[in-house]
Amino acid sequence: MLNVGERSAEDLAEKYGTPLYVYDAAIIRRQIERVKKAFSALPFRPFYAMKANGALAILDRIRSNGFGCDCVSPGEIYIARRAGFTADEIWFTCSNVSDEDLRAVGDARIVVNVNSISEIDRALTLELQNPMALRVNTDVGAGHHADVVTAGGGVKFGIDLAEVREARMIVEDSGRKVVGLHAHIGSGIDDLAPLIESARRLLELSADFANLRWVNFGGGISIPYRPGDPEFPIDDYGRELTRIADRLLRARDLTAILEPGRYVVAQSGYLLARVTAKRISGGLWWLGCDTGFNHLVRPSKYGAYHHIVNATRKAKTKEEYVVAGNLCESGDVFTRDAMGNVIPRKLDHTEVGDLIAFCDAGAYGFSMASHYNARLLPPEIMVDGPSARIIRERQTLEDLVKGQR
Ligand code: LLP
Repeated sequence: MLNVGERSAEDLAEKYGTPLYVYDAAIIRRQIERVKKAFSALPFRPFYAMKANGALAILDRIRSNGFGCDCVSPGEIYIARRAGFTADEIWFTCSNVSDEDLRAVGDARIVVNVNSISEIDRALTLELQNPMALRVNTDVGAGHHADVVTAGGGVKFGIDLAEVREARMIVEDSGRKVVGLHAHIGSGIDDLAPLIESARRLLELSADFANLRWVNFGGGISIPYRPGDPEFPIDDYGRELTRIADRLLRARDLTAILEPGRYVVAQSGYLLARVTAKRISGGLWWLGCDTGFNHLVRPSKYGAYHHIVNATRKAKTKEEYVVAGNLCESGDVFTRDAMGNVIPRKLDHTEVGDLIAFCDAGAYGFSMASHYNARLLPPEIMVDGPSARIIRERQTLEDLVKGQR
């Protein structure tokens, strides 16, 4: 049995159908408050990384709580503007963007956070009038999987420390100012040390920049995905960052920025799915369900753990099941490790027709979903206490052929 807010998951699935993304507004509020409180001693502004979940109804809540927005594509800027973020509440963080992308930044108040000297050159050639920030590779990387470590050797992000001086001079020689420094070192980080070390390096660099207004320490804060995992020590992060940054920031009238995505929304979200098959193969019990990696790719892409519960019944005993999706690929399994091995999971006794819930699916769930196998994207529901409402409608088959000739 599972409740989301004050609603039973079964009732929601009955009413809206499966597969279905459901978000609990109270959890989003709790996480927003945790972020605001932890860094409240600093001159501070949180920016939400909308790549984690770009639903307008979620963005609206986050915006009205004083967050800015971190965007990475013209599409994200468009969505952010539709959600009511003003241009000066948006940072656009480039990664190998095209001239067209750079032009689309459009509104001159959006900060362009450039990723390389090559991008600086292009932004200057295009005569972009936007305030400019430099994304630095502080050479400290971290993250839950190699694919999401975004600093250190061999990654595509950021201006190397050895090149930062040259990057600054290119901008300044053009008569422009560098108004921000940024480092985002990875995602799903559960250890404070690399975040603080990267922050320390960024602050050290800031001394060379006369016109700074912001120092942006990026996102990356993890959440406890497995039962028993500790909460990320966000208050310690706030205290440590305050200890190393507060005096410097205040002396120069700078604002600290953090860009959490996952931390704000992951725990609020569930992907609900109906069990469609139960079979034994290779000595293991397999459950099949009516969703797949097209809707929640993290387990098959990163071997990421999402806790799975039976939302229909509570049994006296737990049983071991491999949980697989409905796509035509053997890798469409939700209970895998990072090597791709199938790992059975303990669940309450489950039968065909039961509802199962993939927990902590609010971040990088829907936002990474695809139409693979011509499956429709799931609708999204926001629950707030006793109320539930559709925030994204179920698609129709027509959506699969829209725009095609
Ligand atoms: N800022 C920048 C520039 C980023 O690239 C990211 C995430 C964030 C902030 C937010 O990071 P967060 O606080 O959510 O860790 N798809 C992967 C995560 C990729 C993160 C990409 N960048 C996953 O499902 O684990």
